[in-house]
Amino acid sequence: MSIRFDYSYAGLSQEEFDNKAAQISLADKMLKEKTGAGSDFLGWYDYPVAYDKEEYARIKAAAEKIKGSCDAFIVIGIGGSYLGSKAVITALTSTFFNEETDRKAPKIYFAGENISGKYMKDLIDLVKDQDICVNVISKSGTTTEPAIAFRFFKEMLEKKYGKDGAKDRIFATTDKERGALKFLADQEGYETFVIPDDVGGRYSVYSAVGLLPIAVAGIDIDAFMDGAKSGYEEYGVDSVADNVCYQYTLYRSCLYNRGKAIEILVDYEPSLRYFSEWWKQLYGESDGKDGKGLFPASVHFSTDLHSVGQIIQDGHKNIFETILAVDELDGDMTVKHEEADLDGLNYLENRTMQDVNEKAFLGTLLAHVDGDVPNGVIYLSRLDAFHIGKLVYFFEKACGLGGYLLGVNPFNQPGVEAYKKNMFALLHKPGYEELTEALEKRLPN
Ligand code: PA5
Repeated sequence: MSIRFDYSYAGLSQEEFDNKAAQISLADKMLKEKTGAGSDFLGWYDYPVAYDKEEYARIKAAAEKIKGSCDAFIVIGIGGSYLGSKAVITALTSTFFNEETDRKAPKIYFAGENISGKYMKDLIDLVKDQDICVNVISKSGTTTEPAIAFRFFKEMLEKKYGKDGAKDRIFATTDKERGALKFLADQEGYETFVIPDDVGGRYSVYSAVGLLPIAVAGIDIDAFMDGAKSGYEEYGVDSVADNVCYQYTLYRSCLYNRGKAIEILVDYEPSLRYFSEWWKQLYGESDGKDGKGLFPASVHFSTDLHSVGQIIQDGHKNIFETILAVDELDGDMTVKHEEADLDGLNYLENRTMQDVNEKAFLGTLLAHVDGDVPNGVIYLSRLDAFHIGKLVYFFEKACGLGGYLLGVNPFNQPGVEAYKKNMFALLHKPGYEELTEALEKRLPN
């Protein structure tokens, strides 16, 4: 099994799992038969075996074109429109990808995932003299953050290459017919890729949203999709004993029912840092509604053992940890013997850093369990495109199942609108006049 789940350190009883077995079967049936809340957004469920092959071939061709024509590739998007590709690219490329000299891909930068003028200015200054291609991604086509970023890059590309030259370097991933971005892309003649109607942002990694940037980074998207297919098959088995995706879902649900409020995803590899960010968005937007849901947090060990490790060990006991551990990883260093041994490290002679890291993981696991923090461990047998493709499906499916166990619609995100309305009103966007007046009264003078 290429993904294993060990929940023996979570302090749960078999009975708790058995009591929920019928519920999880029902939740899976609701996903399969599209009978649950948000069933219009279940396109991701069988996407690994039902994706559009013609679009897939176009993604590969566009990736080759981009690789051959630019030094810097700018991916513009926010939330589900960038986190999946950033997570996969960070997990599967060199730690210092953009600085590598023998890289067979352009440097990759992300934009439109914040509204920082400093970030935008720094990025524009950095890439302005390089050859650039842009992939602007927005399902709605109207999200403010990527729209602002795209305006700057569109202007820059048109100045640099002329309108015709720019249009060959801009790729738009959006709805098949609606939204300002679709309209603009059609007007300007950009190559466009479609985010299917029934696939929501955070479930869109297997569509062009994720695949085009991932392919540009030189990652084998065939292997990635094979992993997704393997997940689709393996986690389609309706049996708690044989389905690790069911087990992870039940473990979270049981701990939530026992009063835990926060799940912390733990990694010991810096390359998994953005995988945690993607996971947080997946769960935060899917579960967190109607006054329910586990707060998804993440830590990066051993770095954070020297920071929030303290509060995990000794703080309020409303948390549990899920560790993402990798069995086989490329790249390692061995500690050598040193005659003087002034740092006292000769006891580690001939031990690899991966070995030391593993002992840090196991020691921390036991310490935190002793500190009353339940732990679960997801083991990934290798960090490669196949296994990451499978892990994405593992979490997407577990998230859909978990949402139904919780009794929420895991495929909408109504809470995201509140900040947008206030921001538009404070920016004096036409149509928000009444709200502008009400909000401005509440602000400090
Ligand atoms: O998961 C989601 O649906 C959201 O996080 C969206 O991806 C995010 O808000 C960006 O939306 P859009 O792609 O419409 O610009």
